[in-house]
Amino acid sequence: MWPSLKLCSMVVVLGAATANALRVTKRAAIDDCLSAAQVPVDAPSSTDWVADVRAFNQRLQYTPAAIAVPTTVEHIRAAVSCAAKVGVKVNPKSGGHSYASFGLGGEDGHLVVQLDRMNNVTLDNATQIATVQPGARLGHVATLIYQQGKRAFSHGTCPGVGVGGHALHGGFGFSSHTYGLALDWIVGATVVLANGTVVETSETQNKDLFWALKGAGSNFGIVASFRFKTFPAPTELSTYVVNLRWTNASAIAEGWASLQDWLKTGGMPREMNMRLFGNGFQTQLQGMYHGNSSALRTAIQPLLTRLNATLSSVEQDDWMGAFAHYAYSQQIDITRPYSATETFYSKSLVTSALSNSTLQSIANYWVNTARRNSRSWYLMVDMYGGPNSAITKVPADATSFAYRDPNTHLFLYQFYDRTMRGSYPSDGFAFLDDWVKLFTAGLDTTQWGMYINYADPRLNQTAAQEAYYGQNLARLRQLKKQFDPAELFYYPQAVEPAKA
Ligand SMILES: Cc1cc2nc3c(=O)[nH]c(=O)nc-3n(C[C@H](O)[C@H](O)[C@H](O)COP(=O)(O)OP(=O)(O)OC[C@H]3O[C@@H](n4cnc5c(N)ncnc54)[C@H](O)[C@@H]3O)c2cc1C
Ligand SMILES: *[C@@H]1O[C@H](CO)[C@@H](O)[C@H](O)[C@H]1NC(C)=O
Ligand SMILES: *[C@@H]1O[C@H](CO)[C@@H](O)[C@H](O)[C@H]1NC(C)=O
Ligand SMILES: *[C@@H]1O[C@H](CO)[C@@H](O)[C@H](O)[C@H]1NC(C)=O
Ligand SMILES: *[C@@H]1O[C@H](CO)[C@@H](O)[C@H](O)[C@H]1NC(C)=O
Ligand SMILES: *[C@@H]1O[C@H](CO)[C@@H](O)[C@H](O)[C@H]1NC(C)=O
Ligand SMILES: *[C@@H]1O[C@H](CO)[C@@H](O)[C@H](O)[C@H]1NC(C)=O
Ligand SMILES: *[C@@H]1O[C@H](CO)[C@@H](O)[C@H](O)[C@H]1NC(C)=O
Ligand SMILES: *[C@@H]1O[C@H](CO)[C@@H](O)[C@H](O)[C@H]1NC(C)=O
Repeated sequence: MWPSLKLCSMVVVLGAATANALRVTKRAAIDDCLSAAQVPVDAPSSTDWVADVRAFNQRLQYTPAAIAVPTTVEHIRAAVSCAAKVGVKVNPKSGGHSYASFGLGGEDGHLVVQLDRMNNVTLDNATQIATVQPGARLGHVATLIYQQGKRAFSHGTCPGVGVGGHALHGGFGFSSHTYGLALDWIVGATVVLANGTVVETSETQNKDLFWALKGAGSNFGIVASFRFKTFPAPTELSTYVVNLRWTNASAIAEGWASLQDWLKTGGMPREMNMRLFGNGFQTQLQGMYHGNSSALRTAIQPLLTRLNATLSSVEQDDWMGAFAHYAYSQQIDITRPYSATETFYSKSLVTSALSNSTLQSIANYWVNTARRNSRSWYLMVDMYGGPNSAITKVPADATSFAYRDPNTHLFLYQFYDRTMRGSYPSDGFAFLDDWVKLFTAGLDTTQWGMYINYADPRLNQTAAQEAYYGQNLARLRQLKKQFDPAELFYYPQAVEPAKA
């Protein structure tokens, strides 16, 4: 373990936030409507309000018009109808981990539908399908599915992330190269639409809406219940670390080129999951192999030979043990209360293979600028695509998620820059903006995109939609026009309805 790494956040106890900055005038009307409809709410300034309004990303704190806290589908439906009637925008909040605070609306004055009181997880032993309420966090979901039948589906690593945002917009983790994204395991969803109707979606019911939900769900309604198919939880998984002696820019550029070639040409077997991780003081490969430790050693050796590197640590574990390994948390089964926060700016990319000259300029920046930055930054490069990736086996038009080509979508990146105390510095943005520009310099716009689960709120709405949805944007805009023409489920980077 690496005690210095706290990738799932640090837990900070904050002073009480106040709701008195509210700039909206529709608050009384929304309160009256929710009250008449008997929808539970947080009283402003109450302990629950303070807990529910607290943004995971403290850089982006917003004040809602009201916070509804449903415990039933009918409560969600009534809350959506109130928002439509009063004319306020409405956004569901599941785990609240949006990098841009989109669960709070991404701006002041929205109705927030805080879903975390709805976190039941029930595995049907006959069908092996898990019914998951929309406010459950990933650690809770994984724990309960495992307890009820030793089953699992693939998803991200941090136990506090909400299933709602995560699974509707991708959901990548250390089982994704083997088993795909979280959204690839959704087989059905119950959805509250903008006009206040509740519909079922699946491959056979409301198919277009189902397609849109799996990649862009926040734009089309509030998912009130998920159905996930599952696989038997693997009994043998091997987590590992390879420390890289990438001390100078040419070592980084050459090593990365070898890694890229290995991934692109099918050297990485389906069972392997891997990311390149770098921060100010460590550069390593981290990963999880679906198999025992001797099988891992055999499978990774060709890469290690090319990199002139050795395994630094290997631990064999079962499904929940391997999840705990990368959870960086004592507690896995997390529900309420939850108080983790960070203060950060993050950017993402998905790219095709990079040229040697691009790798050299990235490496120069890494050594000359990033390693001299004293803030707590990190870069993660996920070995996302390639010929053996389960994600890219799914046809490109099967869901609205845009990154399914094994060659074009080779790497998924997360650039993350946080301050451990105090506010984020105004000169901080350029640090990541300048680095990201180097990655895309030699690529045309079809060769890169961005991942809304690592939303960058400094993109304008037009640029964000294109970056997040690529070739699927036109169809999404048509469906937005059909299901939410008045943009009730608005946030600053939401899909806009088609004009014609
Ligand atoms: C510490 C940390 C670790 C992370 N690790 C990973 C990782 O390993 N892999 C990965 O892919 N991502 C990861 N992420 C990103 C994460 O997947 C996204 O931020 C995700 O959107 C968070 O979901 P949420 O429900 O917690 O957030 P929220 O802020 O509650 O929601 C995010 C968005 O989804 C919408 N939404 C939420 N619930 C619903 C619903 N029921 N119906 C419709 N729309 C809904 C919200 O309105 C909002 O627009 C991580 C984020 C953090 C902060
Ligand atoms: C959640 O599960 C518990 C226990 O089975 C049950 O009492 C409760 O009604 C369920 N809640 C919802 C909203 O379904
Ligand atoms: C489902 O199966 C598990 C064993 O795999 C058992 O412990 C559990 O009680 C079963 N649940 C139901 C609801 O039948
Ligand atoms: C860069 O690092 C590599 C590996 O440690 C080493 O072999 C090489 O000599 C170094 N090159 C320079 C220019 O320092
Ligand atoms: C890119 O760099 C790698 C490693 O340094 C090298 O093997 C490869 O031949 C280079 N490719 C090109 C096209 O120059
Ligand atoms: C490890 O897994 C491999 C491949 O599945 C298998 O052949 C081998 O017997 C296993 N070794 C041990 C020690 O379990
Ligand atoms: C490989 O790494 C070792 C250190 O473990 C080093 O001594 C050796 O010079 C390296 N070989 C090459 C070809 O870089
Ligand atoms: C949105 O951002 C893009 C890319 O930065 C820029 O080209 C475009 O002009 C911006 N559009 C608006 C309306 O500001
Ligand atoms: C609500 O919207 C859906 C999807 O557009 C539509 O099928 C349904 O008829 C609408 N219901 C009402 C009551 O308007």
